[in-house]
Amino acid sequence: MTQYRDTELNELLAQGRIPRHVAIIMDGNGRWARRRGMPRIAGHRAGVESVRRVVSACGDHGVEVLTLFAFSSENWKRPQQEVGLLMELFLTVLKKEVKKLHRNNVRLKVVGAREAFSEKLQERIRIAENLTRDNDGLTLVIAANYGGRWDVTQAARQLAEQVARGELKPEQIDERRLGEHLAVADLPEPDLFIRTGGEQRISNFLLWQLAYTELYFTDVLWPDFDREQFELALRSFAGRQRRFGRTGEQVERVAGA
Ligand code: IPE
Ligand code: IPE
Ligand code: MG
Repeated sequence: MTQYRDTELNELLAQGRIPRHVAIIMDGNGRWARRRGMPRIAGHRAGVESVRRVVSACGDHGVEVLTLFAFSSENWKRPQQEVGLLMELFLTVLKKEVKKLHRNNVRLKVVGAREAFSEKLQERIRIAENLTRDNDGLTLVIAANYGGRWDVTQAARQLAEQVARGELKPEQIDERRLGEHLAVADLPEPDLFIRTGGEQRISNFLLWQLAYTELYFTDVLWPDFDREQFELALRSFAGRQRRFGRTGEQVERVAGA
């Protein structure tokens, strides 16, 4: 991993080596709180501040899309109380932050099996998405009750339905067509993946879309993740050579041309 000094970061950023799409697993809230002798929900609340910081840093650096993993398909397995409090937090944050996001020209999009949420929460999500739908600044994608396996499965089901209706032949199904039915189909694939909290796993996040994403793991717990930490990740990304199956020499030739 190449490390760059501060001045060099600015140069790299100026060269346009900024990821268009950053996807983050915001992990470590519970441990952050427990270390302070506080209930886990206090960590989730503190994590909201990190979200604000990263959203603003993305805006400043010209990142086009930021996807945040807020609640996985598997997080329902947590104690009922924590799940309930997380849903409440989601609702209050949506209510409180949406106007500010709108003022900052942010387009909000929620992906996941939202029918599992309360009617009230679903309504809030609809309001937020409708209010911000025409904004052309940062696209902020919140993955809530999202799972990579759910996403690929629901896309496969849509294709199967088209085949059953006689609108599509099985041999017409290719990667592009399946990709078009994924929840984040209209967005570029993530260039940079960040996971805070020290675990080095994907935990059923964007399985299909992460095929060629650069992965970055940090031990920093999500509530401690700040602009400086985010810039460290950008710096790491800027120093990498993405080969997409080709050789390093081929990539250099194209870059030098
Ligand atoms: C991530 O933090 C937030 C959610 C999954 C909602 P955790 O709650 O997983 O924090 P740790 O991993 O227990 O520290
Ligand atoms: C992944 O974190 C999900 C979110 C951050 C929303 P988890 O804390 O649920 O992941 P595991 O269980 O440690 O793999
Ligand atoms: Mg965790």
